[in-house]
Amino acid sequence: MKITTQALFPSLVWTTLFDDRGHFNAKLLESAKRMRSKDPGGVANTNVKGWQSPNILQDLPEFADINLRILQVCERIGESLNFKSNHTYTHQAWVNISPPGASNKLHFHPNCHFSGVYYVSLKAPECGSIFFRDPRIASRMMTYPAVEPTPFTADEIQMRPEAGRMYVFPGWLEHGVEENMSDQDRVSISFNVLAVPA
Ligand SMILES: [Fe+2]
Repeated sequence: MKITTQALFPSLVWTTLFDDRGHFNAKLLESAKRMRSKDPGGVANTNVKGWQSPNILQDLPEFADINLRILQVCERIGESLNFKSNHTYTHQAWVNISPPGASNKLHFHPNCHFSGVYYVSLKAPECGSIFFRDPRIASRMMTYPAVEPTPFTADEIQMRPEAGRMYVFPGWLEHGVEENMSDQDRVSISFNVLAVPA
């Protein structure tokens, strides 16, 4: 007896590791720190004890390289999802600097097709993982007698950050970041992407 599986309405997370991450991240880290030094207060959002910049990276030439890559990655994902070819991709991006003890509360990103994070600098695994919450609300009515969780039975899935890696996910997929238990700052760029008629 052959049993086949079909994934209906799957929650997808896309990830890519940049080949030139060493040089790319060194430059980005400098830009991130420079931005914080100009605006030490930052903005308050879902970050706990961390510093977050305003959503303005898309307008800053200093961040042109990461802005381009965010759009390139999301365009590729949009193509794989059969998005209309007459659409263009727009984004907003911001810097997060989370010192030891900082975390990011569970949240989602409204009004965008994709959200994501790119990791610039961190000390893994002590810096804490990004975690995603099962968006299938009704599935919380029942737990499964599974020995090991699978993507189907889990109610939360963690992914370990890695400097040079970008994660992209639907804006509606709730996520947060664990407390940074390392002795180094966890530095990342977060973004929202929207595909709009050109
Ligand atoms: Fe987020």
